[in-house]
Amino acid sequence: MKNIHSNIERAKKYLTNNDIVAIPTETVYGLAGNAYSNKAVKKIFSLKKRPLKNPLIVHYYRIKDLKQDCIVNETFNKLYRKFCPGPLTFVLNKKKNSKLSKYVNANKKTIAVRFPKNKITQNLLSKLNFPLAAPSANISTRLSPVKFDDVKEEFGNKIKLILDGGKTKIGLESTIVDLTNKISILRPGGITIEQLEKVLHRKLKLKNFLKNIKSPGQLGFHYSPGIPVRLNAKYPKKNEAFLQFLSKTKNKNNYFALTKNGNMREAAKNLFSILRLIKKKGYSSIAVSKIPNKGLGLAINDRLKKASYK
Ligand code: TXA
Ligand code: MG
Repeated sequence: MKNIHSNIERAKKYLTNNDIVAIPTETVYGLAGNAYSNKAVKKIFSLKKRPLKNPLIVHYYRIKDLKQDCIVNETFNKLYRKFCPGPLTFVLNKKKNSKLSKYVNANKKTIAVRFPKNKITQNLLSKLNFPLAAPSANISTRLSPVKFDDVKEEFGNKIKLILDGGKTKIGLESTIVDLTNKISILRPGGITIEQLEKVLHRKLKLKNFLKNIKSPGQLGFHYSPGIPVRLNAKYPKKNEAFLQFLSKTKNKNNYFALTKNGNMREAAKNLFSILRLIKKKGYSSIAVSKIPNKGLGLAINDRLKKASYK
């Protein structure tokens, strides 16, 4: 494999030319393009087969660049100081004179923004004079990719370059917090609600995804491994894989565990790769046992619920 620095230079060249490049982040891999270019952003939607009404997240390296495009407030400052760079996405009001493509945020008044923590992507962003629009690097409704090969599986040769950052540290997407109204969480993710509550000194509510139309991508069927997923199962049926939080039964081929020792971080990190693995092994469906609904468990359950949606 070529040296990462020459690959970052290649990525810069493609992106400046409004081409699309897959990038590693600490959460999942992203399918990135110049957020100021209509052409680049439309390419992202078409590669992903994503409906144009479902807005993208814009990724920044410097806060001064973000301030060109959206209006920040005191809550933003507090959360930024504590959690950025990191797996937290803010929904803010877009500035009227921002250069962002109108396709990025589906022509809404608001814009979702974040500061990724991965060093390779930070290095790339620092060399660009535009921010990167980047949804998860998967075909719409499928599982998010957590390593180079996953992205390859999704897009093959349809994209010119995938920057290899190894396996992602967090393994599921950023938490989305809406700061344009009363603070609310639109998607649970890498920063837990408990962490946010501690900094903001108040209780926060997670919007019920079936009722929540604020984040269009949170509606309905999503994160699908390509086979049916059945929740709160006690036992697997014939030909079913059985996914448990903690492994309780040994020596059964169809049993998979998210963690060996009950560590929630490890469980979150393994979720998408184990779902991908189960599908590859040829099982016809997946039964999932109950997963603790605390901390990152909320994000795990959110993804599994959407994967099981019919
Ligand atoms: O961890 C992440 O956030 C990853 C990495 C690549 O950064 N990105 C990611 O993007 O998960 P995506 O496109 O798969 O999910 C973005 C979510 C969608 O559910 C979308 O509806 C929501 O963010 N969203 C984007 N802009 C929004 C806005 N202005 N208001 C409300 N929700 C928004
Ligand atoms: Mg996604």
